[in-house]
Amino acid sequence: MNQYPKVSSSILSANFAFLGKEIQEVTQAGADSIHIDVMDGHFVPNITLGPQIIKAIRPYSSLPFDVHLMIKNVDSYINHFAEAGADSLIIHPETEPHVHRTLQAIRKFGKKAGIALNPATSPQVIEYLLDEIDIILIMTVNPGFGGQSFIYSQLEKIKSVHSMIGKRPIEIAVDGGVNFENSSKIIEAGASTLVAGTAIFNEAGYEKNIKRLKGKIA
Ligand code: DX5
Ligand code: ZN
Repeated sequence: MNQYPKVSSSILSANFAFLGKEIQEVTQAGADSIHIDVMDGHFVPNITLGPQIIKAIRPYSSLPFDVHLMIKNVDSYINHFAEAGADSLIIHPETEPHVHRTLQAIRKFGKKAGIALNPATSPQVIEYLLDEIDIILIMTVNPGFGGQSFIYSQLEKIKSVHSMIGKRPIEIAVDGGVNFENSSKIIEAGASTLVAGTAIFNEAGYEKNIKRLKGKIA
């Protein structure tokens, strides 16, 4: 068993003018997956990118692409993101009235199905969905922007989700404000994956930054 947590590199903080190159670099630097934030300006107050860009950057890394969909009408877009090269699709339960069906639709495309919990969203939302879920993404900021501060009240939520899933093979990922100071607390609470944008991209030395997040170096 791998003793270190996985690190998923959130490209929201990458230099968008050199996205392919940035993805190549974090891949070589030891990231475990690429986290791609899709925002529509409706569900969250920011707009980022869509399936065309994902298709364009797909050849730049062999790592899994985790696509975090912060969009309304998500059901209408699942096929587009699946075909663009996503390996997992992570949705917010507030965006669709029939989340169970949405998760099943994602798996029908052969993709991992993920659910994201906003800071204000109770983990009870997923109580009857656990067998349909491969990834639970616990938001430790309000989604929409990189570079926000970690909301510490969510550590308790990570613990309850961890005990809720029991022995099911569900990945617990934590997204937002993850840094070198709080990463060990997040892992102790029960997370298996750290999603990080600012902590990886805002300082030179991506390999060093990823190693620090994993706790391999101080
Ligand atoms: C926020 C996004 C995050 C974001 C994290 O809405 O979901 O993935 O990129 O960025 P940092 O690590 O800067 O908080
Ligand atoms: Zn994200």
